[in-house]
Amino acid sequence: MSQAEAIGQARQWLAAAQSIAVLTGAGVSAESGVPTFRDALTGHWANFRPEELASEAGFRAQPQRVWDWYASRRDELKAVQPNAGHHALAQFQQRHPGRLTLITQNVDGLHQKAGSPGVLALHGDIHATRWLDGFPGGCSRANQADEVCDVSAASPGRPPRCETCGNLLRPSVVWFGEMLPIAELEAAQQAADHCDVMLVVGTSGVVYPAAGLAHQAREAGARVLVLNPAASDLDEIAHLLLRATAATGLPALLDGL
Ligand code: APR
Repeated sequence: MSQAEAIGQARQWLAAAQSIAVLTGAGVSAESGVPTFRDALTGHWANFRPEELASEAGFRAQPQRVWDWYASRRDELKAVQPNAGHHALAQFQQRHPGRLTLITQNVDGLHQKAGSPGVLALHGDIHATRWLDGFPGGCSRANQADEVCDVSAASPGRPPRCETCGNLLRPSVVWFGEMLPIAELEAAQQAADHCDVMLVVGTSGVVYPAAGLAHQAREAGARVLVLNPAASDLDEIAHLLLRATAATGLPALLDGL
């Protein structure tokens, strides 16, 4: 099947689908200029070991280095705009309210910036911050049992620290070995179980439980489309492989539907 035929077949399946689930990874933001994690040479991890930077142990061992890495990524994102792939998804959602559930592994906020509603951000939000130690690590400033120190009272520094109890602020992202936000994960699993089509875009498919959503959709009877210019670990469960980038492939798949 040629890529043009594959796009045509995929559009037919998407047009007929009452419920669509989309799972995105770093590749959907690549054409906005955001480095992926594993692409050789350009990816974030090409320069670091994930355990050093994206884990609680790594943060506790080197809080300033990890804080600075996230701060540099936040700064880079300030100048970044959603690309045609983000917009194609958001516009489809606006044309068909409630028909497409967008699940992302990305923390860059670009789907939200493009206007996608109800984004299920499985790995958190790089622009948000929370305390490292929840209650009872919190200090006397704790307002309720499950709330620690007032973030705005943090002392300046890298990372900011609570002056009373010494708690450290950390990026509100999911680090290796940490639990995913349960509400978002359950909603994503529901979408995977009930969708007619699962569209996987720009992910290597190596990190679980996110990648497992594609398997779950397939097992539940959905048609699985994988959009990625390169091979991924989810290719084997795809009914159609679409070898294109997100900014070209998503408009080709969704525009006009
Ligand atoms: N369009 C679509 N896909 C692309 C593009 C593009 N322009 N450029 C690269 N890709 C693909 C790559 O081929 C690769 O398969 O995007 C994928 C990026 O894979 P990763 O870098 O592994 O990113 P991701 O799959 O999102 O990683 C999952 O791992 O490190 C953790 O928490 C982190 O959320 C991340 C998770």
